[in-house]
Amino acid sequence: MPLSAEELHANKKIPTPGMLAAIAQRWSPRAYSDHAVAPADLKLILEAARWSASSSNGQPWRFLVGRKGDPTFDRIAATLVPFNQAWAPLAPVLILAYAVAKTPHGNPNPYALFDLGQSVAQISIQAAALGLATHSMGGFDRAAAQSLIGPAEDFLPGVVLALGYPGDPAQITDANLHASELAARARKPLEEIAFLSPGEPFQF
Ligand SMILES: Cc1cc2nc3c(=O)[nH]c(=O)nc-3n(C[C@H](O)[C@H](O)[C@H](O)COP(=O)(O)O)c2cc1C
Repeated sequence: MPLSAEELHANKKIPTPGMLAAIAQRWSPRAYSDHAVAPADLKLILEAARWSASSSNGQPWRFLVGRKGDPTFDRIAATLVPFNQAWAPLAPVLILAYAVAKTPHGNPNPYALFDLGQSVAQISIQAAALGLATHSMGGFDRAAAQSLIGPAEDFLPGVVLALGYPGDPAQITDANLHASELAARARKPLEEIAFLSPGEPFQF
């Protein structure tokens, strides 16, 4: 029996007791329903980014927001590598997340992409809390993205984000991508990422 979008979404939820529900249910689909994202939800998701922490409260994050049907959506989709172009335009919203490269004093901001990453994480969690999903993509043509946002000395492209409601996995016809859509989520164990000293697992 093929899995429905709802069954797949439920299967992807990680079973860690005590974890925030939105973190547990966040995952990165490639299939999206054609259900539009309500403007109020889109605003709330971008508010979540706005209230992220940043170095010196510099707030270097910027977002080019394309809704399906808008020229901005097509412009963002056109930056994607073919691998991502095969599925990402199924999503009703594409966002190019980028960062202001310099501090207000005109120096390179070493935290620009770090701060952008935190804001994108907040987007993904807020979206999950609303029953929506996001999928970050590094697979885009940097020169094409740069032409949308301005020169590289001023603006740094981060990721393109697909945003929408998870959809029927049968939409993904490529066999490998379809298998990956259905696959159980996997992570390294904590012992491999948390240490007392390098190589010595932290004892909880
Ligand atoms: C910076 C970044 C770049 C990524 N680039 C792509 C991409 O180009 N194409 C793609 O299909 N997925 C991409 N992903 C999605 C990851 O493969 C995905 O987050 C990872 O496999 C973990 O799955 P999960 O998000 O469902 O937990 C990217 C994720 C991040 C954070």
